[in-house]
Amino acid sequence: MATGHTVTSFDARLVRADTPLLARVVHGRTITYLDSGASSLQPRAVIEAMSRYYELRHANVHRAVYQTAGEATAVYEGAREAVARFINAPGGANEIVFTKNATESFNLLAKSWGFANLKPGDVVLLTEMEHHANIVPWFQLREVTGIEVRFIPVTDDFRLDLSNIDELMRGVKLVSVTAMSNVLGTITPVKELAAIAHRHGALIAIDGAQSVAQGPTDVTDLDIDFFIFSAHKMLGPTGIGIFWTREEILADMPPFLGGGGMIADVRTDGYTPASGPTRFEAGTPPIAEAAGLSAAVLYLEGLGMDNVAAHERSLTGDALTRLALEFEGRVRIIGPSDTTDRGGVLSLDVEGVHPHDVAQILDQFGVCVRPGHHCAKPLMRRFGLAATVRASYGPYSLVEDTDVLLEALGQAVTMFG
Ligand code: ALA
Repeated sequence: MATGHTVTSFDARLVRADTPLLARVVHGRTITYLDSGASSLQPRAVIEAMSRYYELRHANVHRAVYQTAGEATAVYEGAREAVARFINAPGGANEIVFTKNATESFNLLAKSWGFANLKPGDVVLLTEMEHHANIVPWFQLREVTGIEVRFIPVTDDFRLDLSNIDELMRGVKLVSVTAMSNVLGTITPVKELAAIAHRHGALIAIDGAQSVAQGPTDVTDLDIDFFIFSAHKMLGPTGIGIFWTREEILADMPPFLGGGGMIADVRTDGYTPASGPTRFEAGTPPIAEAAGLSAAVLYLEGLGMDNVAAHERSLTGDALTRLALEFEGRVRIIGPSDTTDRGGVLSLDVEGVHPHDVAQILDQFGVCVRPGHHCAKPLMRRFGLAATVRASYGPYSLVEDTDVLLEALGQAVTMFG
């Protein structure tokens, strides 16, 4: 049901023209949005799809039989189909569960699948570059089930250290790894990790929150078991996350949140859960957000994810070269130094300047970046850092954004130099 104009070939300037927020002026300058790793901006097609839903179709889903309620249900279920196509889910829409965000999807994984399938002593293998969303739910599960949580180390050049992987895999029942670090930009070898996990009889879950907007995703080809991401990092709205797993795994997962919408029957002596994705979608779901997500998928498909990946690579390569040349010895890049298996995220450590001070100076130039630990404290500790300043690109980013970033960074270095 989602409609809206899509661009049919990739031109970052057209994407920019399609993105209303990029016309904002702050502190007298047009905004330079370099915080897509935290949340991407929405093209008009996404905003209009959500408005259209509210203006013409709003009703609760899966309940009433009147015309607009049927249309609202079609909008919501249509989003499942769009997402299944976008990630090439082998079993289609029946494998797509909507949550609130990627964090809730990880909680669903740990507290439903993990609780039902892991016993004391079983190991969940993470990496040192995980987001807290893929760490804390496992520690919480450890508190109640006695599982072990283990970490694949990160090398000094910001890659996963797989040299000891067979040893690390002992007792592992689940490998849960990001496809792209939100701090380093490192793209991990998902296919290789999936083969390793399966060889050891384990399943593999992938955090696609950062990777999904940076290039194509094919869960069938990757041969993974779980894939988690959120709409708001792929040009969609906030408030809707995605949990994908194969139909046979989903069928055996117990419900996570209880309430309306997730049941087949409720009696005074108990309840029977629904089958399929709705079993995990208690309460009124994010319907308008699903309309926006469908439009975001259509939009990205129109751009072509290979084109988006090439664009991100080109911007990142240019920025890495210029940062190294213009700020040698003053700005350290916390992440791989070239674009090999690397996405459009630049974490910077400006020598002698606190990341929050850098970000404040950048703000005066209209530059939006994220200072802080990026919800990846184990990784920050690994590199002896409390925080970095992170710039991250989206499909609407241009080399001119890097120009403004470098101009503003120059000011920060001069002021504190
Ligand atoms: N996970 C988001 C980030 O890395 C919020 O900034």
